[in-house]
Amino acid sequence: MKRIIAPSVLSADFGNLNRDMEMLNRSQAEWVHVDVMDGVFVPNISFGFPLMKPMRKATEKVLDVHLMITAPEKYVARFVEAGADYVTFHYEATENIQECIDLIRKAGAKVGISIKPGTEPEVLDKWLDQLDLILVMSVEPGFGGQKFMPSSIVKCEYLSKKRAELGLSELIIEVDGGISASNSRLLFDAGAEALVAGSSVFGATDPEQAIIDMLNS
Ligand code: DX5
Ligand code: ZN
Repeated sequence: MKRIIAPSVLSADFGNLNRDMEMLNRSQAEWVHVDVMDGVFVPNISFGFPLMKPMRKATEKVLDVHLMITAPEKYVARFVEAGADYVTFHYEATENIQECIDLIRKAGAKVGISIKPGTEPEVLDKWLDQLDLILVMSVEPGFGGQKFMPSSIVKCEYLSKKRAELGLSELIIEVDGGISASNSRLLFDAGAEALVAGSSVFGATDPEQAIIDMLNS
């Protein structure tokens, strides 16, 4: 089983983005998580295309883009062009799931679907063999710094079982929200292979050590 930490730049200091990206480059984090919010799908607005370019320039790490936007089919290809390695959209944000999958794949990136805390993982059953990533939200999407919801653990166990049954060993289960070294072990044990962490990394006195602590939990 892989263990990947994906620090969320939502919690970085945008006035010192290069400094924070350099820290991530030195760190043991393999991925960089990019939270895009439109103020419609979620009650918050973060950033969009203009920040993708400097981020892509600043790191060779995997850019793991999490789109919290309505009608993602309109924009997914542009995020791939802007340098995303993974593009993840929300199951709840579109009626056109197959179209989103096809557009991301055709543009040349890996495909992920995310589910909110109120969505059961069974809804993804029919798409699993087409996905590279499933992102289980362990907080309501929209803001960093919220409390971890343990219901996400059971979802990881379900998805991990499905992954084994279907022989989809490349499918990555990722969890996002309220994660730190205090709960990372539980999630890895439940079958998650990638963990997003915003405030527990960027709010730490030693962010590189916070990443190591989660990896070694
Ligand atoms: C929430 C975002 C998360 C968030 C995680 O909508 O998708 O990626 O930045 O931040 P923490 O780790 O602080 O919960
Ligand atoms: Zn996220």
